[in-house]
Amino acid sequence: MAFPSAPSALWSVSLLTALFLAAVHSNVVYDEDPLQPLTSDETVSVGGTVTLTCRVAESDNSSLQWSNTAQQTLYFGEKRALRDNRIQLHHSTPTELSITISDVQLSDEGEYTCSIFTMPVRTARATVTVLGVPGKPQITGFENAVPEGGKITLTCTSTGSKPPASLRWYRGDQELNGHPEVVESIPDSPTYNVSRELTLNVSRSDNNAFITCAVHHPSLTHGEKRSEQALRVLYSPNVDIRAESNLPREGEKFYLQCLGNGNPEPTYTWEKKDGELPPLSKEDGAFLHFEMLNKSDNGIYLCHAHNSIGKSQGEYTLGVQDAADNIADPTAMSTSSGVDHAVIGGVVAVIVFILLCLLIVLGRYLIRHKGTYLTHEAKGSDDAPDADTAIINAEGGHSGAEDKKEYFI
Ligand SMILES: *[C@@H]1O[C@H](CO)[C@@H](O)[C@H](O)[C@H]1NC(C)=O
Ligand SMILES: *[C@@H]1O[C@H](CO)[C@@H](O)[C@H](O)[C@H]1NC(C)=O
Ligand SMILES: *[C@@H]1O[C@H](CO)[C@@H](O)[C@H](O)[C@H]1NC(C)=O
Ligand SMILES: *[C@@H]1O[C@H](CO)[C@@H](O)[C@H](O)[C@H]1NC(C)=O
Repeated sequence: MAFPSAPSALWSVSLLTALFLAAVHSNVVYDEDPLQPLTSDETVSVGGTVTLTCRVAESDNSSLQWSNTAQQTLYFGEKRALRDNRIQLHHSTPTELSITISDVQLSDEGEYTCSIFTMPVRTARATVTVLGVPGKPQITGFENAVPEGGKITLTCTSTGSKPPASLRWYRGDQELNGHPEVVESIPDSPTYNVSRELTLNVSRSDNNAFITCAVHHPSLTHGEKRSEQALRVLYSPNVDIRAESNLPREGEKFYLQCLGNGNPEPTYTWEKKDGELPPLSKEDGAFLHFEMLNKSDNGIYLCHAHNSIGKSQGEYTLGVQDAADNIADPTAMSTSSGVDHAVIGGVVAVIVFILLCLLIVLGRYLIRHKGTYLTHEAKGSDDAPDADTAIINAEGGHSGAEDKKEYFI
């Protein structure tokens, strides 16, 4: 008796489940009134277009109607009821009535109603949410260049967003930590002004850097809106001296250039340590020109750079070379052409060597390839039990095998 009881218990459980499912199913079917209109909630940005669709599964040819948040009828079937050119019929059949509202305003937000005039009247509601599009962000708080080491506070503001927009600061691709956002609601409007501050300690590397404020908001489907602010930072000079050539020669023209690396651009003065500037030299701002170098010009030259932030100086040691090198020019020429020949010879040698290597590799490859081919020819013998089969295997083909067998019998 214990043996059949288990299956029968299982059976009754599954019967109950089936009944339960059937009940649930019929319940669902019962709830699905084919005349009940169905709608969906919509979200649209200010200025956009929203489509409101109302459908019934079956129609008894009763008219469908859309009415607005103030219970005014917009469309009754295909008949327009409200004189508002923004509202147009989109699609009308016995089972569907859809309308569009273009140039949506914040005041269009709310619950719209679709009704079907059966007995009794059936209705469905659709909530339209209107997003306030944030304005392009404005950056304020930066007017004049700031000295290095100073602090600046920028404020980014975006108006008219709903829900409140979020603002982010960037320097290049890198996001910066701003202060928390400040959200202000605007009187008599469902929108908000949002602002966010950023405090920066500026260094010389921030000069001409661009700081960006970007607005993120669900209404901005085509990317974000952003604004940029270029920074200007003042910093003291840091002198580098550049020489026209590394080998200044007696009798030649020559100059030194002082690179101040300061903002604003520094003013420069030149000085020769332990003496006067040579008579054939001329100061010209950042440059010190030598009309004709002379060994007597040798010594240490100083460039002083100063601007409103500070000053700096740099040194250059001038060592004029013998003009005698010029006399040795023909030798130098031949030496250099000798060098050229050596280089060409070397290149040719390398090319010949590479070609030889290629020939050797190619030759070895060809030999190996031929070997493989020979091995393939005899491959049938490898897995054959005797010589006959080996030949058959090697020659392949079932009919061929039979022929061979007959011949050997
Ligand atoms: C609805 O109207 C169409 C013609 O206008 C008619 O053919 C159809 O039978 C009607 N349906 C019902 C349920 O009355
Ligand atoms: C919001 O921003 C607008 C435009 O800048 C301004 O006119 C208005 O006064 C601001 N409102 C509030 C509450 O800050
Ligand atoms: C800026 O400098 C101040 C001190 O002068 C320091 O407390 C602060 O953390 C610095 N801020 C940043 C962002 O480096
Ligand atoms: C260098 O200057 C000395 C005198 O100061 C002069 O005698 C000499 O000719 C000059 N050399 C050249 C190459 O100009």
